[in-house]
Amino acid sequence: MLLKQAATQISPLTGLAPEEVLRLLEVPPQEEMGDAAFPCFTLAKSLRKAPVVIAGEIAVALQTEGMDATAAGPYVNIRFDRNVLAPQLLEEVGSETFGKLQLGQGARVVIDMSSPNIAKPFGIGHLRSTVIGAALYRLYNEAGYTSISVNHLGDWGTQFGKQITAYKRWGNEEMLQADPIRNSLELYVRFHDEAEKDPSLETEAREWFRKLEQGDEEAKRLWTFFVNVSMQEFNRMYERLNVDFDHTLGESFYNDKMGAVVEELRGKGLLEESDGALVVRLDEENMPPCLIIKKDGTTIYPTRDLATAIYRHDVMHADKLLYVVGGEQSLHFHQVFTVLSKMEYDWADHCEHIPFGLMRFEGRKMSTRRGKVVFLQEVLDEAVARALQIIQEKNPNLEQAEQVAEAVGVGAIIFGDLRNNRMNNIDFSLEDAVSFEGETGPYVQYTHARIQSVLAKAANVSRDEQEMDSDTDQMNNPPVVIVGDTSWALLKLLSDYPAYLEKAVLRNEPSVIAKYTIDVAQAFNRFYHAERIADAPSGVKAFRVKLAEHTAKRLAYNLSLLGVRAPEQM
Ligand code: ARG
Repeated sequence: MLLKQAATQISPLTGLAPEEVLRLLEVPPQEEMGDAAFPCFTLAKSLRKAPVVIAGEIAVALQTEGMDATAAGPYVNIRFDRNVLAPQLLEEVGSETFGKLQLGQGARVVIDMSSPNIAKPFGIGHLRSTVIGAALYRLYNEAGYTSISVNHLGDWGTQFGKQITAYKRWGNEEMLQADPIRNSLELYVRFHDEAEKDPSLETEAREWFRKLEQGDEEAKRLWTFFVNVSMQEFNRMYERLNVDFDHTLGESFYNDKMGAVVEELRGKGLLEESDGALVVRLDEENMPPCLIIKKDGTTIYPTRDLATAIYRHDVMHADKLLYVVGGEQSLHFHQVFTVLSKMEYDWADHCEHIPFGLMRFEGRKMSTRRGKVVFLQEVLDEAVARALQIIQEKNPNLEQAEQVAEAVGVGAIIFGDLRNNRMNNIDFSLEDAVSFEGETGPYVQYTHARIQSVLAKAANVSRDEQEMDSDTDQMNNPPVVIVGDTSWALLKLLSDYPAYLEKAVLRNEPSVIAKYTIDVAQAFNRFYHAERIADAPSGVKAFRVKLAEHTAKRLAYNLSLLGVRAPEQM
């Protein structure tokens, strides 16, 4: 924020645009060297003067209130006067519109997120997609876009033939109602075990799927039942994660929309036969062909994604299409987007796959086939139990400890995911994630709760000393405050928030915000240890209390952007 102001002042003296000046401005490694340094080398040519001369001239011309400039060789060193600028910054940081950007100009971003598969466990990949997608959804809204989320359920495909076959043989309604995912999974695993011995099961499964595609009553009834029981369980998870969707449109929604796509591909001369299947060749793009119609005449995942993208563009009026899906599907999306551009949709390059790395929980991986899975519900429960234990040790009298533990445990998982660059593979340790120390969600939540108690104490101290009136006066009329190093550092960091938001959105990287939020919490804790707040001398107290207030708001707000709650007490 301050650098931006400096850039605006320097710009007219140089003939460079403010953004260019901003890019050139350096932040010196040592505090003694000033707050910013502007190098004059690149100006030598355009101004036809030696850099040292230019630096001298700029330093003389640049005398604005709150900004002190001196030439040091070819550099202009700038020092901000904290006592002048701090009250201005504090007011700015606290204003209504602070931190809202207009990057998107209202453009519509459709975000494909979560998208688990019916009758299968909600995988870790689906968790990451949900958490990253929901964060991007909110960040895009903050940046002036209109976000639209879609849960693209995997509710179609040959596995439903297997599911029906297994259910008919070994399942019943009660067991699926009781524990839908686990029992569906058991049926699925059993199907694969028994099919190894008895191949007729596969034939039966294919037959059921064919019936389903042809709208057979019994097949449809069972399919609907599977979808409903799975959704009940997914919804419980979404509730805990605090996520909802603007649209839940599974793959089956596109069943009647694929014929037109296939015809269009044929009409545009893009379909070719290959081994009895129909494909779009992508040789020139150095990719394997994109499969459109299988040998047996059925459509497949990429066909559904083509229909989906066209629907999102034409019907949902998407200006930008994001797909938050694991990195292992990169080739698939690359193929789909390339086929769209071969179909001459000029919006094909508005489609973007937002991949992410793998995550393991304490070394355990996901595998739906063999039943060796980590159930998200269990992971969340374990995190909450750990959080409760820590809370009971730290604050045995806390009211509503269970609710706080839920917010802390679930928040720890979400934050533990989002603080990593999304492409990183994560080996998740619950112990580390739930810890109240280190770069964790609970650490940020704890800092936020600590500020609340500092603020409460500050209010009490004032009342005791009957200083309320004089404090309010000082708040309205900021006095000349002595701004300490740690409060100055914290305030500057708070004022830099918009730049971090912009970076997070441009890179589709919620970790930028998660890391920034940790930095703010750390900067607050340094401030809290070095400078008195609640019992500060009356001349500086109003400033420090306001600074603490704005910090708490920033922490809580950023946590909410990431999908994490901020309890008032912990
Ligand atoms: N259901 C898929 C899976 O679990 C993810 C779907 C992602 N979205 C999409 N439009 N293909 O692998």
